[in-house]
Amino acid sequence: MIDASGCRRCHKTGNQGNRLAADLDASLDKTLPEDLAQAIISPTIYMPDFYFNEPEIARLVNAILGSSAVWKPGSGETPTIAYFEKNKENNHNTFNKHCGSCHRVLTHQFGGLGQGDIGPNLSGIFSRFYFKNFNDGKSWDADRLKQWLKNPRNIRYNAQMLPVELTEGELRHLIQILGS
Ligand code: HEC
Ligand code: HEC
Repeated sequence: MIDASGCRRCHKTGNQGNRLAADLDASLDKTLPEDLAQAIISPTIYMPDFYFNEPEIARLVNAILGSSAVWKPGSGETPTIAYFEKNKENNHNTFNKHCGSCHRVLTHQFGGLGQGDIGPNLSGIFSRFYFKNFNDGKSWDADRLKQWLKNPRNIRYNAQMLPVELTEGELRHLIQILGS
């Protein structure tokens, strides 16, 4: 379930994953099981709502705590901080302008961007923890993203997303944002 939902786009669990949000391997000593469950049931703004049922939540919490018992975070590691405040610069951000009405993304450099839930949360899209769903089980990179933006239906015949036209400068900025 953790793989299928792409939890590691944002979290480390079982010593693997991006550190865009809480390190779930620290859960055992830090967070009560009820609170872990609650965080999944009522996710914060930059965590997707997966609409799991109760048995699924129980299994996820057990998996998180099980991994946490084995993989406690190493001492001296810098904790990751997720930013949620809107700042003025973000309002002019290429992602917010062209993608944010339908997508969200968590980044190290720019914090949380976007406010849409129609499209998938793109956090960690260029990392190995994102879904390998470009086509034929391929992962995403900058070139593939460019092809997608040019015409999603060339990649997925039934894509709902329309092509997005960006200047070279905007594309560079977007790739920097998504890569952070
Ligand atoms: C797009 C990013 C993202 C994805 C994907 C995601 N989360 Fe989260 N999650 C967050 C954010 C942001 C928070 C709240 C802030 C934080 O804890 O860093 C959070 C918090 C949590 C917490 C509370 C942690 C604590 O210590 O209080 C749990 C538990 C959790 N997520 C589990 C999951 C599980 C299980 C999945 C996959 C089914 C998942 N998350 C997928 C972003 C994400
Ligand atoms: C009007 C809404 C809308 C806008 C604007 C939009 N998208 Fe999308 N996007 C979607 C939807 C809906 C999907 C889900 C797949 C589909 O059916 O098209 C999607 C899918 C994607 C995917 C595939 C990811 C996956 O896991 O399936 C990528 C990558 C993506 N969008 C990137 C972007 C970027 C980057 C921008 C801005 C330049 C953007 N999108 C703007 C609606 C939008």
